[in-house]
Amino acid sequence: CLWVRNLRLKRRLPGPFAWPVVGNAMQLGQMPHITFAKLAKKYGNVYQIRLGCNDIVVLNGDRAIRQALVQHSAEFAGRPNFVSFQSVSGGRSMTFSNYSKQWKMHRKIAQSTIRAFSSANSQTKKAFEQHVTAEAMELVQVFLRQSTDGQYFDPTHEFTVAAANVICALCFGKRYGHDDLEFRTLLKRLDKFGETVGAGSLVDVMPWLQSFPNPVRSVYENFKHINEEFFTFVKDKVAQHRETFNPDVTRDMSDAIINVIEHGKDSGLTKDFVEGTVTDLIGAGQDTISTVLQWILLLLVKYPDIQAKLQELIDKVVGEDRLPSIEDRGKLAYLDAFIYETMRFTSFVPVTIPHSTTSDVTIEEGLHIPKDTVVFINQWSVNHDPLKWKDPHIFDPSRFLDENGALDKDLANNVMIFSAGKRRCIGDQIAKVEIFLFFGILLHQCSFERNPNQDLSLNCSYGLTLKPLDYKISAKLRGELLKGP
Ligand code: HEM
Repeated sequence: CLWVRNLRLKRRLPGPFAWPVVGNAMQLGQMPHITFAKLAKKYGNVYQIRLGCNDIVVLNGDRAIRQALVQHSAEFAGRPNFVSFQSVSGGRSMTFSNYSKQWKMHRKIAQSTIRAFSSANSQTKKAFEQHVTAEAMELVQVFLRQSTDGQYFDPTHEFTVAAANVICALCFGKRYGHDDLEFRTLLKRLDKFGETVGAGSLVDVMPWLQSFPNPVRSVYENFKHINEEFFTFVKDKVAQHRETFNPDVTRDMSDAIINVIEHGKDSGLTKDFVEGTVTDLIGAGQDTISTVLQWILLLLVKYPDIQAKLQELIDKVVGEDRLPSIEDRGKLAYLDAFIYETMRFTSFVPVTIPHSTTSDVTIEEGLHIPKDTVVFINQWSVNHDPLKWKDPHIFDPSRFLDENGALDKDLANNVMIFSAGKRRCIGDQIAKVEIFLFFGILLHQCSFERNPNQDLSLNCSYGLTLKPLDYKISAKLRGELLKGP
């Protein structure tokens, strides 16, 4: 029974004293991942907290996290049955649904669709690269326009549109202009999605907050509304695809997903999973990429010496007459080092989407965690562990280069941002290609400068992703504006 279960959990796992009703909610602070890392110093890397009516196990540090997610992969592959998770992707989300046979099939379909449109063969690789390059060149022009007469501007929404366009082009074969107001408004609202599903959000752990007006309830109401609006947008596009579907011609990811779910051998998924899958892919592929690009630009203007060094290398390897491409990647290891250091240093997905245990499990020499326990996985703690990283609080891309200037792949693999195990991100490969191309092309074409009249802080807002707070930059064309593909 629940009472015995809780007693067992309490006896076995260390953790801070939890107040009645709210538990440890008031102690989380503005940056829960940092609080979690501090608590790990006191209670060890595996401990429990209480949020409202939920006992939650928090995992910190590389060893405990990998032991759970890799060695006990099935036991830690669940998702909690939070009410907010049910409003995502029309209730047909793969990302937010629990571990099951159906989830496995759903994930397989999503994974093979991504592969088919990005890395299946040299043709798809090229087509994907061209999409991203065209979008990056569009962004260059928007940035230059906004910098007319040395003006400073906030690049946040332009990154949001650019990242959304890459994934919309893959899913629908359609991109949107940066001045398309309807699209911009939709994306601007979607920006708030991560507030609700990030670990430590109080929406799901204190259900009684739904019963009277308060800030948490309005966040939740807004969350439901955002999901409905976004899902309707995707549903319309999928409906158009169904109407014009031709099994012999796969135009884009929507067609591919319709084909496998509706026309394939029994996928075990009903028709409405098509919309769910497409919504998941756009949602996951948009916010993460636009957030990392925002951080990259912020760090570039914060460290102008590093920016100059990166451009010197690009000029040497690529020259003025063409744009950087994926084939240059091996020779542009310093760019990848900068990207990995941005991911490590900012840890912009500080805690993964909440997990839950699918059965009773014992880790770390006898720590017992019962079935259906919510689990928070603190990626930030892995990336800032002083035993693993020299001066973890210093931004230094060169830590990822070996003595020959090549990328230290073993060290790069130690950065934890895509999680691990059965729930590991399925977009990691396309994300890396996309980030490299956007970054390389922006640097090749422009120099970026901070606004000298504005303090450049690394302050950010907390949610599923950490987003930099307002900052302004200006872009200058470096040489000739090149044509995209
Ligand atoms: C899940 C990170 C880009 C698709 C996740 C998770 C993280 C993550 C931390 C949660 C894993 C967990 O709960 O343990 C990132 C980062 C990205 C990125 C840092 C970019 C830099 C993408 C892209 C796509 C994508 C481009 C697809 C187009 C997904 C999906 C899931 C997921 C579908 C859910 C997996 C599941 O629940 O089984 N990602 N992601 N991601 N990601 Fe990504």
